[in-house]
Amino acid sequence: MNLLLYGAPGSGKGTQANMLREHFGIPHIATGDMLRAEIQAGTELGRKAQPILAAGQYVSDAIMIGIVRHRLGEPDCTPGFIMDGFPRTVPQAEALDDLMHELDKRFDRVIYLKVPVDDLLHRLSGRLVCPQCQRTYPPGTAACAADASVLVQREDDKPEAVRPRIEIYLEKTVPVLDHYRHGRLVSEIDGRGTIEEISSQVLTAVASKNGQPARAAHAAVKKQKA
Ligand code: AP5
Ligand code: MG
Repeated sequence: MNLLLYGAPGSGKGTQANMLREHFGIPHIATGDMLRAEIQAGTELGRKAQPILAAGQYVSDAIMIGIVRHRLGEPDCTPGFIMDGFPRTVPQAEALDDLMHELDKRFDRVIYLKVPVDDLLHRLSGRLVCPQCQRTYPPGTAACAADASVLVQREDDKPEAVRPRIEIYLEKTVPVLDHYRHGRLVSEIDGRGTIEEISSQVLTAVASKNGQPARAAHAAVKKQKA
Protein backbone atom coordinates (compact mmCIF):
# COMPACT_ATOMS: atom_id res chain seq x y z
CA MET A 1 0.00 0.00 0.00
CA ASN A 2 1.69 3.21 -1.19
CA LEU A 3 -0.17 6.40 -0.29
CA LEU A 4 0.51 10.04 -1.00
CA LEU A 5 -0.93 12.78 1.20
CA TYR A 6 -1.28 16.10 -0.55
CA GLY A 7 -2.45 19.44 0.87
CA ALA A 8 -1.46 22.91 1.99
CA PRO A 9 0.57 23.66 5.13
CA GLY A 10 -1.75 22.92 8.07
CA SER A 11 -4.24 20.86 6.05
CA GLY A 12 -3.74 17.84 8.34
CA LYS A 13 -1.29 15.67 6.36
CA GLY A 14 0.84 14.82 9.40
CA THR A 15 -2.22 14.19 11.59
CA GLN A 16 -3.78 11.77 9.09
CA ALA A 17 -0.43 10.17 8.23
CA ASN A 18 0.01 9.19 11.89
CA MET A 19 -3.42 7.56 11.84
CA LEU A 20 -2.58 5.70 8.59
CA ARG A 21 0.82 4.60 9.94
CA GLU A 22 -0.84 3.05 12.99
CA HIS A 23 -3.68 1.56 10.91
CA PHE A 24 -1.56 -0.05 8.18
CA GLY A 25 1.80 -0.46 9.99
CA ILE A 26 3.77 1.15 7.17
CA PRO A 27 6.29 4.01 7.54
CA HIS A 28 5.38 7.69 7.35
CA ILE A 29 7.86 9.51 5.12
CA ALA A 30 7.56 13.21 5.95
CA THR A 31 10.18 15.33 4.22
CA GLY A 32 9.57 18.26 6.60
CA ASP A 33 10.15 16.01 9.64
CA MET A 34 13.33 14.64 8.00
CA LEU A 35 14.66 18.16 7.45
CA ARG A 36 13.83 19.19 11.03
CA ALA A 37 15.69 16.08 12.29
CA GLU A 38 18.75 17.16 10.26
CA ILE A 39 18.49 20.66 11.77
CA GLN A 40 18.20 19.24 15.29
CA ALA A 41 21.22 16.98 14.69
CA GLY A 42 23.28 19.93 13.39
CA THR A 43 24.32 18.18 10.15
CA GLU A 44 25.61 20.08 7.12
CA LEU A 45 22.24 19.62 5.42
CA GLY A 46 20.51 20.83 8.58
CA ARG A 47 22.64 23.98 8.68
CA LYS A 48 21.80 24.72 5.03
CA ALA A 49 18.08 23.95 5.46
CA GLN A 50 17.46 25.86 8.71
CA PRO A 51 17.18 29.41 7.27
CA ILE A 52 15.16 28.13 4.30
CA LEU A 53 12.55 26.48 6.54
CA ALA A 54 12.48 29.46 8.91
CA ALA A 55 11.66 31.75 5.95
CA GLY A 56 8.91 29.42 4.69
CA GLN A 57 10.73 28.73 1.40
CA TYR A 58 11.51 25.41 -0.33
CA VAL A 59 14.75 23.43 -0.15
CA SER A 60 16.11 22.73 -3.68
CA ASP A 61 14.58 19.99 -5.80
CA ALA A 62 17.97 18.26 -6.19
CA ILE A 63 18.44 17.94 -2.41
CA MET A 64 14.87 16.80 -1.79
CA ILE A 65 14.89 14.23 -4.59
CA GLY A 66 18.18 12.83 -3.21
CA ILE A 67 16.68 12.50 0.30
CA VAL A 68 13.56 10.72 -0.95
CA ARG A 69 15.52 8.42 -3.28
CA HIS A 70 17.65 7.29 -0.34
CA ARG A 71 14.65 6.85 2.00
CA LEU A 72 12.51 4.84 -0.43
CA GLY A 73 15.40 2.43 -0.93
CA GLU A 74 15.34 1.44 2.76
CA PRO A 75 13.93 -2.02 3.54
CA ASP A 76 11.04 -0.84 5.77
CA CYS A 77 9.46 0.78 2.67
CA THR A 78 9.11 -2.56 0.88
CA PRO A 79 5.56 -3.32 2.13
CA GLY A 80 4.46 0.26 1.49
CA PHE A 81 4.73 3.83 2.77
CA ILE A 82 2.84 7.05 3.37
CA MET A 83 4.44 10.02 1.62
CA ASP A 84 3.81 13.46 3.18
CA GLY A 85 5.31 16.74 1.93
CA PHE A 86 6.80 15.38 -1.30
CA PRO A 87 6.48 16.08 -4.19
CA ARG A 88 6.03 19.83 -3.77
CA THR A 89 7.05 20.94 -7.26
CA VAL A 90 6.40 19.55 -10.73
CA PRO A 91 10.09 18.54 -11.18
CA GLN A 92 9.85 16.62 -7.87
CA ALA A 93 6.69 14.88 -9.12
CA GLU A 94 8.42 13.89 -12.35
CA ALA A 95 11.47 12.60 -10.46
CA LEU A 96 9.18 10.60 -8.15
CA ASP A 97 7.48 9.01 -11.18
CA ASP A 98 10.89 7.87 -12.43
CA LEU A 99 11.91 6.60 -9.00
CA MET A 100 8.66 4.66 -8.49
CA HIS A 101 9.12 3.14 -11.93
CA GLU A 102 12.71 2.11 -11.08
CA LEU A 103 11.52 0.53 -7.82
CA ASP A 104 8.58 -1.14 -9.59
CA LYS A 105 6.09 0.59 -7.26
CA ARG A 106 3.00 2.68 -7.88
CA PHE A 107 0.74 4.85 -5.74
CA ASP A 108 -2.55 3.26 -4.74
CA ARG A 109 -4.14 6.60 -3.90
CA VAL A 110 -3.41 10.31 -3.56
CA ILE A 111 -5.39 11.90 -0.73
CA TYR A 112 -5.96 15.63 -1.17
CA LEU A 113 -6.96 17.35 2.08
CA LYS A 114 -8.68 20.55 0.98
CA VAL A 115 -8.86 23.32 3.61
CA PRO A 116 -9.59 27.05 3.03
CA VAL A 117 -6.72 29.51 3.64
CA ASP A 118 -8.37 31.19 6.67
CA ASP A 119 -8.62 27.82 8.46
CA LEU A 120 -4.98 27.05 7.57
CA LEU A 121 -3.78 30.32 9.11
CA HIS A 122 -5.78 29.63 12.27
CA ARG A 123 -4.48 26.04 12.58
CA LEU A 124 -0.82 26.88 11.96
CA SER A 125 -0.72 29.78 14.40
CA GLY A 126 -2.06 27.52 17.19
CA ARG A 127 -0.33 24.24 16.38
CA LEU A 128 1.87 22.55 18.98
CA VAL A 129 4.53 19.94 18.14
CA CYS A 130 6.38 17.31 20.14
CA PRO A 131 10.10 18.08 19.83
CA GLN A 132 10.93 14.36 20.29
CA CYS A 133 8.55 12.45 17.98
CA GLN A 134 7.20 15.35 15.81
CA ARG A 135 3.51 14.49 16.45
CA THR A 136 1.30 17.56 16.08
CA TYR A 137 -1.45 18.72 18.41
CA PRO A 138 -4.14 21.42 18.45
CA PRO A 139 -3.82 24.49 20.72
CA GLY A 140 -4.31 23.90 24.44
CA THR A 141 -2.79 20.37 24.47
CA ALA A 142 -0.58 19.99 27.54
CA ALA A 143 1.93 17.27 26.57
CA CYS A 144 2.68 14.65 23.92
CA ALA A 145 0.33 11.67 24.22
CA ALA A 146 3.08 9.31 23.04
CA ASP A 147 6.09 10.35 25.15
CA ALA A 148 4.82 13.09 27.56
CA SER A 149 7.28 15.70 26.20
CA VAL A 150 6.44 19.37 26.67
CA LEU A 151 5.05 20.67 23.36
CA VAL A 152 6.57 23.60 21.47
CA GLN A 153 5.71 25.89 18.53
CA ARG A 154 7.41 25.09 15.20
CA GLU A 155 9.78 27.85 14.07
CA ASP A 156 7.97 28.14 10.72
CA ASP A 157 4.58 28.52 12.43
CA LYS A 158 5.60 32.00 13.59
CA PRO A 159 3.55 34.69 11.78
CA GLU A 160 6.43 35.88 9.52
CA ALA A 161 6.85 32.40 7.95
CA VAL A 162 3.22 31.29 7.67
CA ARG A 163 2.15 33.61 4.79
CA PRO A 164 5.23 32.82 2.63
CA ARG A 165 4.55 29.08 3.14
CA ILE A 166 0.98 29.46 1.85
CA GLU A 167 2.16 31.64 -1.05
CA ILE A 168 4.84 29.21 -2.22
CA TYR A 169 2.35 26.33 -1.90
CA LEU A 170 -0.11 28.18 -4.17
CA GLU A 171 2.61 28.97 -6.71
CA LYS A 172 4.69 25.76 -6.81
CA THR A 173 2.66 22.96 -5.23
CA VAL A 174 -0.87 23.50 -6.55
CA PRO A 175 0.27 22.48 -10.09
CA VAL A 176 1.46 19.13 -8.66
CA LEU A 177 -2.18 18.09 -8.13
CA ASP A 178 -2.87 18.15 -11.89
CA HIS A 179 0.06 15.79 -12.34
CA TYR A 180 -1.83 13.15 -10.31
CA ARG A 181 -5.35 14.08 -11.46
CA HIS A 182 -4.42 12.86 -14.96
CA GLY A 183 -3.96 9.38 -13.52
CA ARG A 184 -7.37 9.46 -11.70
CA LEU A 185 -5.56 8.71 -8.47
CA VAL A 186 -6.79 11.67 -6.45
CA SER A 187 -9.47 11.49 -3.73
CA GLU A 188 -10.41 15.01 -2.68
CA ILE A 189 -11.55 15.34 0.93
CA ASP A 190 -13.02 18.41 2.60
CA GLY A 191 -10.52 18.67 5.47
CA ARG A 192 -12.71 20.85 7.73
CA GLY A 193 -14.49 18.25 9.89
CA THR A 194 -13.17 16.86 13.16
CA ILE A 195 -9.93 14.86 13.00
CA GLU A 196 -11.94 11.65 13.52
CA GLU A 197 -14.39 12.50 10.71
CA ILE A 198 -11.53 13.22 8.31
CA SER A 199 -9.78 9.97 9.33
CA SER A 200 -12.92 8.00 8.51
CA GLN A 201 -13.13 9.65 5.06
CA VAL A 202 -9.41 9.06 4.44
CA LEU A 203 -9.80 5.33 5.21
CA THR A 204 -12.84 5.11 2.93
CA ALA A 205 -10.93 6.85 0.14
CA VAL A 206 -7.96 4.51 0.56
CA ALA A 207 -10.34 1.56 0.22
CA SER A 208 -11.88 2.97 -2.98
CA LYS A 209 -10.34 1.77 -6.19
CA ASN A 210 -11.60 4.22 -8.77
CA GLY A 211 -11.02 7.68 -7.35
CA GLN A 212 -14.67 8.43 -6.70
CA PRO A 213 -15.19 11.26 -4.21
CA ALA A 214 -14.67 10.13 -0.62
CA ARG A 215 -18.17 11.09 0.50
CA ALA A 216 -19.75 9.11 -2.34
CA ALA A 217 -17.52 6.13 -1.56
CA HIS A 218 -18.39 6.43 2.14
CA ALA A 219 -22.12 6.44 1.31
CA ALA A 220 -21.63 3.41 -0.95
CA VAL A 221 -19.90 1.50 1.88
CA LYS A 222 -22.75 2.37 4.28
CA LYS A 223 -25.33 1.23 1.72
CA GLN A 224 -23.51 -2.07 1.21
CA LYS A 225 -23.45 -2.68 4.97
CA ALA A 226 -27.23 -1.90 5.33
P1 AP5 B 1 6.33 20.25 6.26
O1 AP5 B 1 6.74 19.84 7.60
O2 AP5 B 1 5.94 19.23 5.25
O3 AP5 B 1 5.21 21.35 6.43
P2 AP5 B 1 3.90 21.73 5.59
O4 AP5 B 1 3.68 21.08 4.28
O5 AP5 B 1 3.94 23.20 5.60
O6 AP5 B 1 2.75 21.08 6.36
P3 AP5 B 1 2.55 21.10 7.88
O7 AP5 B 1 3.38 20.03 8.52
O8 AP5 B 1 2.69 22.50 8.41
O9 AP5 B 1 0.98 20.76 7.99
P4 AP5 B 1 0.22 19.38 7.95
O10 AP5 B 1 -0.58 19.31 6.71
O11 AP5 B 1 1.14 18.23 8.25
O12 AP5 B 1 -0.81 19.61 9.15
P5 AP5 B 1 -0.87 18.98 10.63
O13 AP5 B 1 -1.37 17.57 10.56
O14 AP5 B 1 0.37 19.26 11.37
O15 AP5 B 1 7.53 21.10 5.60
C1 AP5 B 1 8.18 22.11 6.33
C2 AP5 B 1 9.18 22.82 5.44
O16 AP5 B 1 10.19 21.88 5.01
C3 AP5 B 1 8.64 23.42 4.15
O17 AP5 B 1 8.07 24.70 4.36
C4 AP5 B 1 9.92 23.49 3.31
O18 AP5 B 1 10.75 24.56 3.73
C5 AP5 B 1 10.63 22.20 3.68
N1 AP5 B 1 10.26 21.07 2.80
C6 AP5 B 1 9.62 19.93 3.18
N2 AP5 B 1 9.42 19.13 2.12
C7 AP5 B 1 9.95 19.77 1.05
C8 AP5 B 1 10.01 19.46 -0.33
N3 AP5 B 1 9.49 18.32 -0.82
N4 AP5 B 1 10.60 20.36 -1.17
C9 AP5 B 1 11.14 21.52 -0.68
N5 AP5 B 1 11.10 21.87 0.62
C10 AP5 B 1 10.51 21.00 1.49
O19 AP5 B 1 -2.08 19.86 11.23
C11 AP5 B 1 -1.90 21.24 11.49
C12 AP5 B 1 -2.64 21.64 12.80
O20 AP5 B 1 -4.05 21.46 12.57
C13 AP5 B 1 -2.29 20.75 14.01
O21 AP5 B 1 -2.33 21.54 15.17
C14 AP5 B 1 -3.42 19.72 14.05
O22 AP5 B 1 -3.65 19.22 15.35
C15 AP5 B 1 -4.60 20.53 13.52
N6 AP5 B 1 -5.57 19.74 12.80
C16 AP5 B 1 -5.35 18.68 11.96
N7 AP5 B 1 -6.51 18.22 11.46
C17 AP5 B 1 -7.49 19.03 11.96
C18 AP5 B 1 -8.91 19.06 11.79
N8 AP5 B 1 -9.55 18.19 11.03
N9 AP5 B 1 -9.58 20.05 12.44
C19 AP5 B 1 -8.95 20.93 13.23
N10 AP5 B 1 -7.60 20.95 13.44
C20 AP5 B 1 -6.89 20.00 12.81
MG1 MG C 1 3.22 18.03 8.60
